[in-house]
Amino acid sequence: MTSNTAISEQAREILITNDRGGYTVPTAGLYPYQWNWDSAVAALGFAQFDVDRAWVEIETLFKGQWADGMVPHILFHKSDPGYFPGPDVWGCEGPIPSSGIIQPPIAATMARFVWEQDKGVGRERLAALYPKMVKWHNWIMRWRLHRGAVCTTHPWETGRDNAPDWDNTMARMDASDVGEYTRRDTAHVNSDDRPTKYDYDRYIKLVQMGRRLNWDQAAMLAESPFRVADPTMTFTTLRAARDLQVIGEALGEDTSGIAASIELLVTGAETLWNEELGGYDSRDVLSGEWAGCLSNASYLCWFAGVENAKMLARLRDVMTRVPYPVPSNDPNAESFDARRYWRGPTWAVVNLLIGIGLEDMGHKTEAKALADKTAGLIKEHGFAEYFDPMNGKAAGGGTFTWTAAVWLAWAGRD
Ligand code: DGY
Repeated sequence: MTSNTAISEQAREILITNDRGGYTVPTAGLYPYQWNWDSAVAALGFAQFDVDRAWVEIETLFKGQWADGMVPHILFHKSDPGYFPGPDVWGCEGPIPSSGIIQPPIAATMARFVWEQDKGVGRERLAALYPKMVKWHNWIMRWRLHRGAVCTTHPWETGRDNAPDWDNTMARMDASDVGEYTRRDTAHVNSDDRPTKYDYDRYIKLVQMGRRLNWDQAAMLAESPFRVADPTMTFTTLRAARDLQVIGEALGEDTSGIAASIELLVTGAETLWNEELGGYDSRDVLSGEWAGCLSNASYLCWFAGVENAKMLARLRDVMTRVPYPVPSNDPNAESFDARRYWRGPTWAVVNLLIGIGLEDMGHKTEAKALADKTAGLIKEHGFAEYFDPMNGKAAGGGTFTWTAAVWLAWAGRD
């Protein structure tokens, strides 16, 4: 078996190879641009061996910040015909060609970790980023709250593209007039690992609507059929607020606004508790319906500093029942599909976030068990985008940036 040192060397190589100069692609071919939350995790990976490069990653991401504070989910630094939908489809006018939606706001959390690697070097870089990070946070608080929980306006925003959480909401959408388009993702990887055409039509339909409304948040709020309060957005935003508070205090800033955000988001997180499901769930704010989905995002409560004994019992159970946890969907659910993207597979990156939360909240045994299991998965099956939770087999793209970063910063650590 390959030694941990050799695997760490491979992981560093992946980050260096996927570096396009100032930003890192998630993987060549399938994702040829800078993705928001992938990039934040890449920074954490770089911080393990090149702190300066880690800062550059986050700084480049914030170069794409819109005037109103929004930080896009993709920055199209150079055009690449191998990806669809590209900048011409989104039609956005930020400082860098981009998509018109966001992604889970974990950049502030990762910036805090990068700073903690070397506080001397980091202070100035952190101080320059801080107002930009606060501006993005405030944008989310202004445009995305429903009863204190954070909503997504597109399945891509959560990162959990085809999670069953959106099935009911998407079923109410009419995408019959979406028109012809050519997907590129299925030219790079096995189509059984990817979202279906039914899902894709709806993703594109929402992009077309956003473009028609010039990505105006008020107009989209009034018209869009897709608005779901979800554990990914809510827990990562709450976590980001807590990290912004720590950063702000260290920089001597007034953090009273952030403290108020935290209070509101804590109450919002509890509106995602579905008693019948016995877990944190997504709720469609337009229909008022629960999704009825226990996903890996449900276990991000600890990441957000939210304790929950029932979730801990469920986590222990899933970790003993499923050979390669944490699956992105409940294996007992009808919608479970061990290979299809967010309908079953295990994602090392979500394990990282769950693991950070467990550790912070004092659940050291579970944190260590999850780190060890994630390390085993990467050792046996490589730096895949995601893994079959039942047999561990690699799925989706390979030589994946965030899986390499997860190894370096957490799973493969001595
Ligand atoms: C994709 O292209 O599949 C991405 O998930 C969108 O962000």
